[in-house]
Amino acid sequence: MKNQYERLMRRCLNLAKKGEGKVSPNPLVGCVIFDDDYRIISEGYHIGCGKNHAEREAILNAKEDLKGKSLIVNLEPCSHYGKTPPCADLIIEKGIKRVITGMIDPNPVVKGKGIKKLKAAGIEVITGVLEDECLELNKFFINDIKNKRPYITIKTATTLDGKIAAKTYKSKWITDETSRKEAHKLRNRYDAILTSSSTVIKDNPSLTCRIKNGRNPIRIIVDTNLNTPSYSNVYNKDGTKVIVLISENIKDERIINYPENIQFIKCRIKGNHIDLKSALEKIYNTGIKSILIEAGGKLNKAFIEENLADNLIQFIAPKILGDKNGINFVYGYNRNEISECNNLIFRSTKKLKNDIILVSDFVKHEKQPLKRY
Ligand SMILES: NC(=O)c1ccc[n+]([C@@H]2O[C@H](COP(=O)([O-])OP(=O)(O)OC[C@H]3O[C@@H](n4cnc5c(N)ncnc54)[C@H](OP(=O)(O)O)[C@@H]3O)[C@@H](O)[C@H]2O)c1
Repeated sequence: MKNQYERLMRRCLNLAKKGEGKVSPNPLVGCVIFDDDYRIISEGYHIGCGKNHAEREAILNAKEDLKGKSLIVNLEPCSHYGKTPPCADLIIEKGIKRVITGMIDPNPVVKGKGIKKLKAAGIEVITGVLEDECLELNKFFINDIKNKRPYITIKTATTLDGKIAAKTYKSKWITDETSRKEAHKLRNRYDAILTSSSTVIKDNPSLTCRIKNGRNPIRIIVDTNLNTPSYSNVYNKDGTKVIVLISENIKDERIINYPENIQFIKCRIKGNHIDLKSALEKIYNTGIKSILIEAGGKLNKAFIEENLADNLIQFIAPKILGDKNGINFVYGYNRNEISECNNLIFRSTKKLKNDIILVSDFVKHEKQPLKRY
């Protein structure tokens, strides 16, 4: 039975992923309805913010009577009236006898109340199936509710010895085409992608998501002194929102020369650059819940040193560049002792065609990485 529940929960997680890039700030949710022989009767997933929840979709997609059937879903069914009516009520109404969930909804308006409602109606409820995978899938959503700030991932493409570019700042191409395709899938998952003025000036990237059914993340440029040219690729008018973080001292006359699709956010200065922490608060207030950083070593270092990064995704190519002619992915980051290192927890590794992806979480001092509710 445990294996069957895990198999069906994996199906829920795969269905939920179809909502990537579309559901934020809502969670990714997939749902399967099955009979006593574990035959799938119906499926559904949350397709977008404000649209039907996964349970409602699965129930509406069913072609047969659901009385006495079981329902499995990666997140606790809701018990409240939001943009849609409570899923728990619909499950009860349809006569479903058993509900299996992966995790409790951390949203205080639900948080155990959905399960309580189902149990009160006589439905058997089983919780915690593939809980770690369920928590991982919805880490942006959990972080939003818990920490009220965007979830930050630093993404790098490096050589085996951690170099993101040669001293000449040439970085094309460290990793292969398969890795770059994978990186585009990653862009589809995040609300926004962030880079620096320096990377825009040196590389002129587009920062678009070039995969089938993908969508571009919002582009955020950290440009303290507004040095990026107005004709940079990141400012292309392709229907994607662009945010440029600039110093509060920049005069409005300078902004006029830039395309009108750009939202300029004036930020406090710390030292010679934008104060990243307060800038992130402003970004969060625009509705952005997750950010993928694709920058050079200096900006990566700033995020790490200020304890602002949650997660590190490294695409590592089997190449060695050496320390004399290579630039480290955290540039100017120096610790004297091992005891002073910034610590991370390895989460996963994946071998691609030639390269590997290494995923780690930063150990935060003020909070735990992922928490069960
Ligand atoms: N392989 C990869 O994964 C990858 C990805 C991206 C880029 N790259 C390489 O990296 C190169 C660029 O590297 P880079 O070192 O010149 O640039 P960078 O690290 O991308 O950005 C440096 C800029 O970040 C801002 N900054 C620095 N410290 C900061 C702080 N404490 N707080 C806030 N902002 C801060 C400054 O811009 P302001 O003056 O505007 O504040 C600074 O000029 C590119 O040419 C490319 O080759 C590689």
